[in-house]
Amino acid sequence: MTTSKPQDIKRAVRERYAARATGAVSACCGPAEAAPPTPARGVYLGADLSGLPGEVLLASAGCGNPTALADLKSGETVVDLGSGGGIDCFLAGRAVGPSGHVIGVDMTPQMIELARSNAQRLKAANVEFRQGEIEALPVQDGTADVIISNCVVCLSPDKDAVFREAFRVLRPGGRLHISDMMLVGDLPQAIKDDPKRWAECVGGAEPKEEYLARLGKAGFQRVSVKEERRYSSEPGLEALRSVYVRAVKSLNG
Ligand SMILES: C[S@@+](CC[C@H](N)C(=O)[O-])C[C@H]1O[C@@H](n2cnc3c(N)ncnc32)[C@H](O)[C@@H]1O
Repeated sequence: MTTSKPQDIKRAVRERYAARATGAVSACCGPAEAAPPTPARGVYLGADLSGLPGEVLLASAGCGNPTALADLKSGETVVDLGSGGGIDCFLAGRAVGPSGHVIGVDMTPQMIELARSNAQRLKAANVEFRQGEIEALPVQDGTADVIISNCVVCLSPDKDAVFREAFRVLRPGGRLHISDMMLVGDLPQAIKDDPKRWAECVGGAEPKEEYLARLGKAGFQRVSVKEERRYSSEPGLEALRSVYVRAVKSLNG
């Protein structure tokens, strides 16, 4: 629980990622000075990042590689929640090919602008970016074969709304692949109450069981954790984990 107001959290998040999009902040998940610029942290180890411009790599602000285990197929439609500078959208765009389609959604105008200019530079015709909130996705019901997200749901003060929306835009039989920050213990209350620490993907991290239960409550099935690693050595953040979770929407909807 936090004593911060949702609108204060959202404002802090928007400010941080606007600054990041325009190059003013060098890191995202964790304090700026604590982490080297991504992808040096090994998040995309083994992924084919060739051909992605420096602007895409430097804006990368995730805590995992959600397309790595998503088994994306040619022709699939993918929706990325909180697409940032677009790195996962571009990787997904390559995997689904010209007959597929990727929609990145982000609430920060500067990130959308950066992602669109990256798409133009890459001539990524099958990738588009829409400005909007992941609690009210600007995407029609049953659009997506796959939902991906990388270190974003932890930033939302209304995670139930995010998962309800993800469920709505997935087609029956669709899959969800998320990398996110979660807890295997607790955080100091001062961190949970600080909107700036939320914006660093820390303050809004929830206990893993609560997070997974929210997915079940939204209707997802076969919710499972595939990877989990400790993320920070900062005192107070011992319980913080980067977790890769997947789930499905059953064929019955
Ligand atoms: C930690 S960054 C991750 C960006 C991207 N997924 C990546 O891996 O590089 C979080 C992004 O999510 C966006 N975001 C955070 N909360 C959001 C919300 N409630 N609705 C839409 N976008 C949001 C931010 O603007 C930011 O671009």
